[in-house]
Amino acid sequence: MQKPQIIDLPKILDKRGNLSFFENDNQIPFRIKRTYWIYDVPGGEFRGGHAYKKNEEFIIALSGSFDVIIDDGKEKNTYNLNRSYYGLYVPKLYWREINNFSTNSLALIVSNVEYNKNDYILNYTEFLSLRK
Ligand code: TYD
Repeated sequence: MQKPQIIDLPKILDKRGNLSFFENDNQIPFRIKRTYWIYDVPGGEFRGGHAYKKNEEFIIALSGSFDVIIDDGKEKNTYNLNRSYYGLYVPKLYWREINNFSTNSLALIVSNVEYNKNDYILNYTEFLSLRK
């Protein structure tokens, strides 16, 4: 089973401004089927609080910062994302929540599947049994 991990992205430093990128079959361990972003998050709000059966994702803080809390059913790890030149890979079957959004933060998320509400695991007890 794959593990959550920070992936550093290419960084093209330039006095005109820096540039980073990722593409299918490079940098991230899946083919991208979907891209979405989370923005205008009011102070104190959180997103997520569920796991996915098939969805894998790569999360980048394009602007500002936030915390991604990843729970494998046994332990929780918090990843503070605050730069646009790295991101967090989250495999399927990890409970994840995103919180502590800074003002004007922008979370970019790419995924290996199209949106499908049946892929969501919303019940923590069901999540724990699927982890086994
Ligand atoms: P949801 O995944 O529940 O948000 P979060 O996990 O960040 O709390 O999605 C919120 C709503 O947006 C829900 O009604 C489904 C819809 N949605 C789409 O239509 N397409 C998508 O790709 C995503 C991620 C959500």
